[in-house]
Amino acid sequence: MPDEIDLRIRPVRPGDKPRVLDFTAGTWGDGDYIQDVFDEWLADPAGQFTAVELEGQAVAIARLTDLGDGELWLEGMRVDPKHRKKGISKTLHAYHVSLARKLGGDVLRYATGDDNAVSRILGERTGFRHVGNYWWHEAIPSDEYEPPVRLAREDWPVLRTRFRSPLVRVARRLYQRDWRWRGLSEVRLKAHLASGEVLGLRRADGTGLRAWSICALDEDTQMGLQHLDAIDSASLAEMAGSMRRYARDAGRSLVTTFAPEPSPLIGALREAGYRTEEMAMIVLELKLRK
Ligand SMILES: CC(C)(COP(=O)(O)OP(=O)(O)OC[C@H]1O[C@@H](n2cnc3c(N)ncnc32)[C@H](O)[C@@H]1OP(=O)(O)O)[C@@H](O)C(=O)NCCC(=O)NCCS
Repeated sequence: MPDEIDLRIRPVRPGDKPRVLDFTAGTWGDGDYIQDVFDEWLADPAGQFTAVELEGQAVAIARLTDLGDGELWLEGMRVDPKHRKKGISKTLHAYHVSLARKLGGDVLRYATGDDNAVSRILGERTGFRHVGNYWWHEAIPSDEYEPPVRLAREDWPVLRTRFRSPLVRVARRLYQRDWRWRGLSEVRLKAHLASGEVLGLRRADGTGLRAWSICALDEDTQMGLQHLDAIDSASLAEMAGSMRRYARDAGRSLVTTFAPEPSPLIGALREAGYRTEEMAMIVLELKLRK
């Protein structure tokens, strides 16, 4: 039982790395991303990277990040397989919920696989609401489609009018970046536009906007679409195809995106040659202010 073991909660230290990488090495069978982010999480002042210590050793980790705009994000909960079912994740989860309240954000969210019953229960027992399911889709980059245009500041007046679209609504006004779901606010969309991360399809006469997508080209070999939108289903499928072309021109090997369910986006993605994979994430949310 949790109160019978001597758990200590403290910040992760550089010296925890070998142990943490060791107990997370087989988390998902084929590995874990913790090894790729450990140093970054340790150094990042915007996050609280926390360990649970038992008998002088780190046996669990999780991280709370400030995404800005009052949004806090919980991620990377891992318990050493040798110490599971001792109430450790329950303790760490409760710690983060109370830390989030102290930090004073508006909302705390996290995502987990839709088949991860334990992770889901932790949220349900502490007042989190199930916001939605998001299905993973993949496509191979292709030159069969026309490339999109990169939208610019001059497009903002039109983009702004499209911003409260039905597809933004079905995505629960959230979009995913780096596996973290956050609110799609006007401020964020404008920042993506300024960074050249909003692509679109114009009408045949070159005016107006039929479709748009948010997509950042980072160092990865894959390309993740963070939002796709359009005025009708044909334009939506065309935009999805066009992003396969964009990925091909950018030398990427795979295009990926999460589509909310239910959503017309799933049909449009399939029409444009994307596969729905057997992987869905659920997002849970706790309002921190009444
Ligand atoms: C999911 C995980 C964090 C749970 O950690 P844990 O410390 O073993 O969980 P706890 O002991 O705090 O258990 C919490 C509750 O879930 C139950 N539970 C834990 N593991 C369970 C399992 N495999 N099957 C069914 N119930 C389980 C516990 O009995 C407890 O319920 P109770 O309060 O009614 O007794 C851990 O298994 C893990 O690290 N998994 C791999 C990574 C992962 O899934 N992370 C979370 C989402 S990204």
